Amino acid sequence: MRTSEIRTRFLDHFAGRGHTVVPSAPLPTPDPTLLFVNAGMVPFKPYLTGEMAPPWPRATSVQKCIRTLDIEEVGKTTRHGSFFQMNGNFSFGDYFKEEAIEFAWELSVKDREEGGYGLDPDRVWVTVHHSDADARGLWRRIAGLPDERIVARGDEDNFWSMGVPGPCGPCSELYYDRGPALGRAGGPAVDEDRYMEFWNLVFMQYERGEGPGKSGYPILGELPRRNIDTGMGLERMATLLQGVDNLYEIDETRPILDRAAELAGVRYGADTAADVRLRVVADHVRTALMLLTDGTTPGNEGRGYVLRRILRRAVRSMRLLGYEDPALPELLPVARDCMAASYPDITEAYGRSTDRAEAEEDAFRSTLRQGTTVLDTAVNRVREEGGRALPGAQAFLLHDTYGFPIDLTLEMAAEQGVEVDREGFTALMNAQRERARADARARKSGGTRDTSALRAVLDAHGPTDWRAWETLTTVSRVLGVVGPAGPVPAAGEGEIVTVLLDRTPFYAESGGQDSDAGRLTGASVEADVLDVQRPLPGLVAHQVRITAGELAPGDVLNAAVDPEWRLGARQAHSGTHVLHAALREILGPSALQSGSYNRPGYLRLDFPWRGALSPAVRGDIEEAANRALRRDLPVGVSWMTLPEAKELGALALFEETYGEKVRVVEIGGAWSRELCGGTHVEHASQVGVVSLTGESSVGAGMRRLEAVVGLEGFDHLARERDLVARIAELSPGPRAELPDRIAGLVARLKAADRENQRLRREAALGRAAELAGGALEVAGVRVVAAGVPAGEATDEARTLALAVRDRLPADRPGVVAVGVPGGGGAVLVTAVNATAREAGWSAAALVKRLLGGRGGGSPEVAQGGGIPAERLPEVLAELPGLIADGPRG
Ligand code: ALA
Repeated sequence: MRTSEIRTRFLDHFAGRGHTVVPSAPLPTPDPTLLFVNAGMVPFKPYLTGEMAPPWPRATSVQKCIRTLDIEEVGKTTRHGSFFQMNGNFSFGDYFKEEAIEFAWELSVKDREEGGYGLDPDRVWVTVHHSDADARGLWRRIAGLPDERIVARGDEDNFWSMGVPGPCGPCSELYYDRGPALGRAGGPAVDEDRYMEFWNLVFMQYERGEGPGKSGYPILGELPRRNIDTGMGLERMATLLQGVDNLYEIDETRPILDRAAELAGVRYGADTAADVRLRVVADHVRTALMLLTDGTTPGNEGRGYVLRRILRRAVRSMRLLGYEDPALPELLPVARDCMAASYPDITEAYGRSTDRAEAEEDAFRSTLRQGTTVLDTAVNRVREEGGRALPGAQAFLLHDTYGFPIDLTLEMAAEQGVEVDREGFTALMNAQRERARADARARKSGGTRDTSALRAVLDAHGPTDWRAWETLTTVSRVLGVVGPAGPVPAAGEGEIVTVLLDRTPFYAESGGQDSDAGRLTGASVEADVLDVQRPLPGLVAHQVRITAGELAPGDVLNAAVDPEWRLGARQAHSGTHVLHAALREILGPSALQSGSYNRPGYLRLDFPWRGALSPAVRGDIEEAANRALRRDLPVGVSWMTLPEAKELGALALFEETYGEKVRVVEIGGAWSRELCGGTHVEHASQVGVVSLTGESSVGAGMRRLEAVVGLEGFDHLARERDLVARIAELSPGPRAELPDRIAGLVARLKAADRENQRLRREAALGRAAELAGGALEVAGVRVVAAGVPAGEATDEARTLALAVRDRLPADRPGVVAVGVPGGGGAVLVTAVNATAREAGWSAAALVKRLLGGRGGGSPEVAQGGGIPAERLPEVLAELPGLIADGPRG
């Protein structure tokens, strides 16, 4: 029975018994305790707790679920899937135990001709909570089960909750005996492979509190009403009804597994390790597809990270199977075809979402290529030096320079039998964070980490006379010059120092506005102002580079802000207020700026929002902003008390300490009213244009808008226009059809690429057959030693070595060495078959013997390098002699 059929029968059965059929909720859930839906009841939680009135007394659904806690188990057991579907029936204060048991029993054992699943009633076992005499009695009466097939278990097994505070209760599970071939007799307590759980009935009647584990939490009390929540594992039922061994072999995943095996050129069932990898691929590719089509995109945290990890594990498993070309373009369409019967929407969402996955795979493959070489070399060194652990510094380098995630380093090192110094790695990560923080602090204090010199000046002369709002130039006296080590009597050309003035026209970075640029010019000195900060309240510090002459305390200078810079800064800061108001006009008041930065020509602002803004919404925001410029709204600055400002609805965005009076900047009166200390234009049209250049995620639930304004805004538009013109030249025809023409080109190119890869692979495999045919026979071992033409990647040498090995007779020892004479020296790959392994041959030992210690890998396949290309033929020619000497020779 196909999985889609099992699903329809379930929904029909419960619809016929008064249940409303509710479609699956999307996998990402708004429930704050979870990233993804992980059980059928999740979308119904408010009805189960009594928080909301249920719209129906009974419901049924087939819910998409994700569980990744057991991700390491996937493929190793028969029954762990990272994506699965849970068929459920729910009663919200309506029926309870008796009907729940009746409904489940009826559907499980009813004949297939009559719409049931036709399970053999004599092979069904159930478990009940040891305190639940009711359930035991009901199973006896309704199903006629003998006592020995009703097993009592404790809280760990038969008391269900979501693992977090919420509804819970005792449960009763149904198991099916798959026969003696799969394990020992004695019921579910003895063997959960032979006795496969397929349905869990939860008699939900309590509310639980915080606490660890499956039983270490308090029961807070009874729910307002008693509910039923059940979960039948759709994939498990399919495993039973399709008579397959495990849930990766059912009709919704097996075709993915088969395609993966075909691509990798391996046979499912021939090798335990390869089988696990194939099952991981089948599971993960389907999970990724379901996440992608529900709108999750790969990223560095939260949901995006779960997807990224799943995709990377799938790609890596294919690589471990020996397949090194892009795998997802081959596998995702198979997954789509498997799932389309149950989820017709997938076909429509497909192209849109899977492009992201393919880009992710490309990026990950290049990370893998670079990182693997670095890691292999490091692991070899550890081994050669007789160590057991990869140094933390090496793991940090892989992470920092090669983007190699630490979990991957751990996994790959473990595969080669080497540990990783995790503590060392964490210490380096922390040190890096600390450095970044210290740099930020140094910047805030105007270039010096020591504020005591600055405080001395402040104490002696009082606060800086700050004139940024009124003027662009002042005549100023130098009160102090501070170098990296403290105050200096003078600083000369080329030096970068912190300068304190009695008065200044320079804006110090604050409220998101970057500091002013400009110059200090005196009788005998010229200096560029690089950065301006307020390291202490009231004190403005200028970081300057002296370009001519000498600067000393007591000098009198002309301090001048670059007027062009300041105009740009005013445009950018007013542009930020305009964009913020436009954002709130379109998205509503919850889109409140939580951080911003602006400098001449550029601005960005961050705000809390779930999910990306669509191009249409971005267009609306940009239009609302530019409408304000066209209406030329006046910009006004006024001073008032904080309560007065609040009364007017002014937004206070920064945790700044305000004096008695606050400064309020308005654009168009109430349209935009913010507390702000920045510099602004006088009326909105002076901003020129606001042109959005980016919208992105900056952490969980936080988005960032970026824009260019003023002349940069026009430049940006001109560049875009120029770009379109250049693209149009390459693809003649009506401009409006340009996107379609390019999409067509890209599709053709991708197809050609794939064809090319297929041909290259075929050629390699063809050569493999030829090389295997010409194997020498040395002391009972089949030996192939071959050089392949220069320029072919190490990847291909490896593929070829494995392909040749697999074409040698499996019942005889077989040893292969393939060499590539690359530019930076030759690379040599060795591979041995299982029979040779049993006879004592190891690929890693062989490569070391051939290369005089340089190289390593696993006993099955290994690689090394570091010899000049011209020596390759000589090294390859040594292989037969080595074999003749025997494994320990
Ligand atoms: N909510 C129950 C489970 O997930 C049915 O097992």
